[in-house]
Amino acid sequence: MRILLDTANLDDIRYFNTYYPIEGVTTNPTILAKEGGDPLATLKAIREIIGEDKELHVQVTEHDFDRIIDEARAIVDYLGINTFVKIPVTDIGLRVTKYLSDRGIGVTVTAVLTAAQAMLASNAGASYVAPYISRSENLCADGVGTVADIADIFEVSGTDTQILAASFKTAKEVLDVAVEGCHAATIGSGIMKMLLSHTTTDTSIAGFEKDWKEAFGDTTLLKLITKK
Ligand code: G3P
Repeated sequence: MRILLDTANLDDIRYFNTYYPIEGVTTNPTILAKEGGDPLATLKAIREIIGEDKELHVQVTEHDFDRIIDEARAIVDYLGINTFVKIPVTDIGLRVTKYLSDRGIGVTVTAVLTAAQAMLASNAGASYVAPYISRSENLCADGVGTVADIADIFEVSGTDTQILAASFKTAKEVLDVAVEGCHAATIGSGIMKMLLSHTTTDTSIAGFEKDWKEAFGDTTLLKLITKK
């Protein structure tokens, strides 16, 4: 399952883009508001950090059909290729999705809470649907199960629409959607670190270092091989 970073924090994006195999960055109005400053400059900086080959997902802020279309085109013109326009799953959103997708603009239909919404978004031509996991589970619904249902529906229909799961609060939720056949997940920096770290990994590494040092002192294999 491909992993994207769900943040507009430039320090986090620089760090994770360097050390972790992320495939892109997702933002929304709340995420941009959290960073403050000039949202356009932030988005441009994100594009410069991740380069043109990685995906950048940016949500529209306009509300009526014509202005959303103009905004979507402006976003893609401003941020270049591999920019996906995030459109909330509403009736106008479905119409916009069909219009933009028919014209070759990638759409990520977002704020998806049910498999029915995902099916309609896919039928409208969405490149991605973004089901919200923890926002669903907080309402005692089955967010992970919803991803499983969407994966089944998409497999039967043969659609090209991919599932980009979002809104995670635990690392286990990320693993669970991966098991259910989710194509991609967008996660915050905290969960990204939780996916990697394990106390037994840390103690194992410490044990290797201690044993090596006790037997061979400060040398390393590099020093022994190169005599440097
Ligand atoms: O990408 C959508 C996501 O940011 C929503 O996440 O944590 O606000 O529920 P959250």
